[in-house]
Amino acid sequence: MSSVSENPLANKAQAWSALFSEPMSDLVKRYTASVFFDKRLWAADIAGSLAHAEMLMAQGILSAEDHTAIQQGMATIKSEIEAGSFEWQLDLEDVHLNIEARLTALIGIAGKRLHTGRSRNDQVATDVRLWLRGEIDELSVLLNALQTALVDVAEKNAEVILPGFTHLQVAQPVAFGHHLLAYVEMFARDAERFADVRRRVNRLPLGAAALAGTSYPLDRERVAKTLGMEAVCQNSLDAVSDRDFAIEFTAAASLVMVHISRLSEELILWMSQSFGFIDLADRFCTGSSIMPQKKNPDVPELARGKTGRVVGHLMGLITLMKGQPLAYNKDNQEDKEPLFDTVDTLKDTLRIFAEMMGGLTVKPEAMERAALKGYATATDLADYLVKKGLAFRDAHEIVAHAVKTAIGTGLDLSALPLSELQKFDARIGEDVFEVLSLRGSLNARNILGGTAPAQVRAQIARHRVRLG
Ligand code: ARG
Repeated sequence: MSSVSENPLANKAQAWSALFSEPMSDLVKRYTASVFFDKRLWAADIAGSLAHAEMLMAQGILSAEDHTAIQQGMATIKSEIEAGSFEWQLDLEDVHLNIEARLTALIGIAGKRLHTGRSRNDQVATDVRLWLRGEIDELSVLLNALQTALVDVAEKNAEVILPGFTHLQVAQPVAFGHHLLAYVEMFARDAERFADVRRRVNRLPLGAAALAGTSYPLDRERVAKTLGMEAVCQNSLDAVSDRDFAIEFTAAASLVMVHISRLSEELILWMSQSFGFIDLADRFCTGSSIMPQKKNPDVPELARGKTGRVVGHLMGLITLMKGQPLAYNKDNQEDKEPLFDTVDTLKDTLRIFAEMMGGLTVKPEAMERAALKGYATATDLADYLVKKGLAFRDAHEIVAHAVKTAIGTGLDLSALPLSELQKFDARIGEDVFEVLSLRGSLNARNILGGTAPAQVRAQIARHRVRLG
């Protein structure tokens, strides 16, 4: 896309009105202009203008000739922007005025008629909504791809045993596939949130004009239909001024990043020498300029860091809204950069993670060895005693003693001889060893949502259907 040139209309006081007697200072021009970044909205701006023009014609406000000229002019502008030959002008402040000025240069007076019954206030709110709707659709596809990548790894690892942690202390064995499916659940909810936010994004502000509506007999429903929007904003003041849809979106995006960040933290831990559970493909890592042995998990580390950036954008937007009186205020121009950066960060991150999970090397022996270390099947022994007639609290106490003894000998519970185990409770029999094994523990949790491989497989099947 072409860059923004400065001061092409040197002897024109302002782009919008004869009221002003002196030109803006260059500093103020730069401070107030948004074209540097909002030119990104050009396609939405043109789509909104075309829908508006078509409706103006249908309502008899614009002639068929003017409408045709506007369509042709916009087609030229589209190809100029796509070819990078469109000259974005700082003096024309924003994407809206730049496109409108070019249209008028191309087609004359019909270009000046386009803005009938419209203000930049309802125009920009429409543009941002249209643009964001498209981005949400792309993000939904990317979220699906990441979920599918995770389900693929989960399927290969439905039987692989991982120490499950609470408080980062070994708690109970879980299937590695089960662990990964926890993230699939998180990302599935994220996708639901996006779908829900989309409904509120996809409403039409056009027709609200500057703030009070317009005296022209516009057909707002018609414009909404043309633009594929689900509803028309019902209050003109609200339509031009609120950005809660952007805040909501950024909140949903922040949650995606929080989930990514949690996964990142685990990948980083698992790849450290102390865990040694996984390896990330080299293309997602970097080395050290001083320590030749190093391979660092830069991608998850950066993603963890970028989470702060996206959450920061949420804070920025929500603070931007706070304290604004009705209706439109220029503060709202500040909604764009955080929104754009949120979308860019999210898209890159989701793409990278889908690819990175596909290239994950899993080390089942290391995971299993770690699971054997922390008396991960102690709860299973307690449950076993309950099945033999003990109250759970008593069983808990007995097993605590058994674990203490086992720690003293440096052995796992399953490595203690039966005679030793029977000292804790006479009801313990030969069948205890199956219970004390990691695999026995896993298989025992054969309940909806549990970690038994049969359950993991059932969940994978459900996700496959859902993800298509
Ligand atoms: N660039 C402005 C924005 O992003 C467009 C709306 C300007 N409206 C106005 N009354 N100055 O919000």
